[in-house]
Amino acid sequence: MAAAPSSPLDNWWRDAVIYQVYPRSFADGDGDGTGDLAGVRAHLPYLAELGVNAVWFTPWYLSPLVDGGYDVADYRTIDPAFGTLDDAEKLISEAAELGIRAIVDIVPNHVSDQHAWFRAALAAGPGSPERELFHFRPGRGENGELPPNDWPSQFSGATWTRVPDGEWYLHLFTPEQPDLNWAHPAVRREHEDVLRFWFERGVAGVRIDSAALLAKHPDLPDFEEGVDPHPYIDQDEIHDIYRAWRAIADEYGGVFVGEVWLPDSERFARYLRPDELHTAFNFNFLACPWEADRLRGTIDDTLAEHAPVGAPATWVLCNHDVTRTVTRYGRADSGFDFAAKAFGTPADLALGTRRARAAALLTLALPGSVYVYQGEELGLPEGDIPLDRIQDPMHFRSGGRDPGRDGCRIPLPWAAEESHYGFGPGAAPWLPQPADWARYAVDRQRTDPESMLTLYRTALRLRRTEPGFGDGPMTWLPTEEGVLAFARTDGLLCVVNLSGRPAALPPHERLLLASGSLDAQGQLPSDTAVWLRA
Ligand code: GLC
Repeated sequence: MAAAPSSPLDNWWRDAVIYQVYPRSFADGDGDGTGDLAGVRAHLPYLAELGVNAVWFTPWYLSPLVDGGYDVADYRTIDPAFGTLDDAEKLISEAAELGIRAIVDIVPNHVSDQHAWFRAALAAGPGSPERELFHFRPGRGENGELPPNDWPSQFSGATWTRVPDGEWYLHLFTPEQPDLNWAHPAVRREHEDVLRFWFERGVAGVRIDSAALLAKHPDLPDFEEGVDPHPYIDQDEIHDIYRAWRAIADEYGGVFVGEVWLPDSERFARYLRPDELHTAFNFNFLACPWEADRLRGTIDDTLAEHAPVGAPATWVLCNHDVTRTVTRYGRADSGFDFAAKAFGTPADLALGTRRARAAALLTLALPGSVYVYQGEELGLPEGDIPLDRIQDPMHFRSGGRDPGRDGCRIPLPWAAEESHYGFGPGAAPWLPQPADWARYAVDRQRTDPESMLTLYRTALRLRRTEPGFGDGPMTWLPTEEGVLAFARTDGLLCVVNLSGRPAALPPHERLLLASGSLDAQGQLPSDTAVWLRA
């Protein structure tokens, strides 16, 4: 198959709108209750109509699905629950025909414990070359009964598991996700081959999971609070890996987006140097509460940290790991923090929805690329999953404190009147859908001028046709307190009112789009945003 239809001179990714598909929950083509690639293929016209430039698929490879596919057993095989390699190739090319590029997800920090490498490592025993691909160590304590170090997990709980022969292996996530040893040349070679494998199949980009965690301090020393560098986050050696990857991507015109959670702007920007990753997710923006000063500060920091390396910013409101936007913005604390997640946090969904609509116009007007997580365009709230149906390991590893991430992964409602809201023709979906979700169904929203879907579609269309949006400069305009207003080129203005009172609009010629109606005086109500032509 041909490589992606892009060249190094093609900068589509600098201002693309990229839609995140979580295949398990997007659409179920074969009726087994699990979303699949046939389901995505059937709904490609929906994505084209929505007007997105690319789709990022969370992992679709062979996997025991202990962590929703982020436990990869084989990158060259599609999990039978999702389809076949042939389906993936067809999906990639059919999407390309509609002008939609494909981005796949690579999870280099770890593999599944069912991956051939790990099974061989277990079988081969201590001291074997097979074990060198992972981090196997003897334990501490008199009889090796204590883990080799005290590293905190990314998922709460232990980071080491002991195997029957007495050695321990490292896993920053679940025991079913053993960490790879990135100091080993075979690990590097294999991942470079995996990149080629997917670029050869026409994908335009790769999302890199847990991108700042790959390199470990060679001595695996204990973690000391406040001591730099951290023994496994953002080790300097990691950049060499991405330089090698970049050279491969450049051969194919492919691009990277890194999952880099690093609060330090300067350290974050290193990943975006011209010979490393093209882009990285903006988690500071995602975690920011709905407050004008904080948002403005985050936007300024984002642009300032990206400028020296020449990389475009990305804007992300939610994804498959975090609380859905309308729920988060409807809470007293509207920021996002994994550590603060709890059952039963109250949310005013009407308020959250109003804010999410305004946030959509804010995000889509900012310079850079934008990610839209499936269901965000439908205004889906976080769902409550009955305790006995929760699947996410984050819930179990927290001892039941954290509700987990299933609430943002509920299968999509496509048709209000059909069984399972049209998610699939047969078995009940793998996660239960709330009883009141008919109102969010695509078929209801499609024809409703007031719906979230209509807002997203209209905004994406304007963003495509107005050259002032996307990559390029922005200038803040003076405003009343609690109001954000900025100008893009070509006379485009975006005004967002986060104050508690109506705000006057700046002088303008035309209102292009509003997230809600203006009041009788023509003022912008609170939690509302507009796009104007000056
Ligand atoms: C990333 C993924 C998340 C996964 C974790 C471990 O954070 O987004 O879903 O659980 O990595 O691979």
